[in-house]
Amino acid sequence: ASTLGGSAAAQGRYFGAAVAANHLGETPYVNTLNTEFTSVTPENEMKWDALESSRGTFTFGAADRIVSHAQQQGMQVRGHTLVWHSQLPGWVGTLGAADLRAAMNTHITEVMRHYKGEIHSWDVVNEAFQDGGSGERRSSPFQNKLGDGYIEEAFRTARAADPAAKLCYNDYNTDGVNAKSNAVYNMVKDFKQRGVPIDCVGFQSHFNSNSPVPGDYRQNLQRFADLGVDVQITELDIEGSGSAQATSYGNVVRACLAVSRCTGITTWGVTDKYSWRSSGTPLLFDDNYNKKPAYHAVLTAL
Ligand code: XIL
Repeated sequence: ASTLGGSAAAQGRYFGAAVAANHLGETPYVNTLNTEFTSVTPENEMKWDALESSRGTFTFGAADRIVSHAQQQGMQVRGHTLVWHSQLPGWVGTLGAADLRAAMNTHITEVMRHYKGEIHSWDVVNEAFQDGGSGERRSSPFQNKLGDGYIEEAFRTARAADPAAKLCYNDYNTDGVNAKSNAVYNMVKDFKQRGVPIDCVGFQSHFNSNSPVPGDYRQNLQRFADLGVDVQITELDIEGSGSAQATSYGNVVRACLAVSRCTGITTWGVTDKYSWRSSGTPLLFDDNYNKKPAYHAVLTAL
């Protein structure tokens, strides 16, 4: 096929992009999105601060615009993200344990109910582990007040809210085999053994010269898949340019295709122009929506 989404579909995979609602009025942005991609992830619009900035008041407008655009185009939607320490409104951190538990479960239930049947995979918990170290959990209101068990509770609440959605744990610097990915691996293994509902693990895959595509990427994806979960590349971007960037992108795609349970790839944006890494050029389309060497490398690898 001649597009990212079409070629991925021929391999039984989706190819997605993170999308911002405020760019959906820009013709070349929308044309590129609609032509090339088969899945969208709202870049910020489904985060807690966007959906429930004050307790019990839900604001779905911007996220709804992305979902309805996707539906009109026949694209799938990844939900991102229900429980995360960042982009969390201040009121959440002021609650005591019992109230915090109730607020977390209400947030998950209300958001998933609103989008019931419309989301193929939800990032239920995002970035719960620290970098380096030996697998410690990251400090957050949830961790500090509810302890390790909040992750399990979030997944159980999510399953009850929308039984058809795939429930993912998502993190970064877990792309290769290392102490952090070992900690996530052990959690997923424990969940599968005890029947805690989890269907997928997301690997953000934000790469740069300090954190290049790991040589054991495929092996790491495979060991998670062997636990009985799908794996997804959820926020791919790779700093750099030209043939070096293209080679890295090709390696990512080949790693995913080599793992039968790697069900899709999402780049964290459509165009370099709007990348969250504003200092860089990490995506497949340049500022003018021209296809970069990295684009051609991905298409060739698919
Ligand atoms: C980023 C967005 O791209 C930015 O627009 C926002 O200012 C901060 O968050 N890991 C994640 C994503 O899970 O939600 C983050 O997205 C990038 C890192």
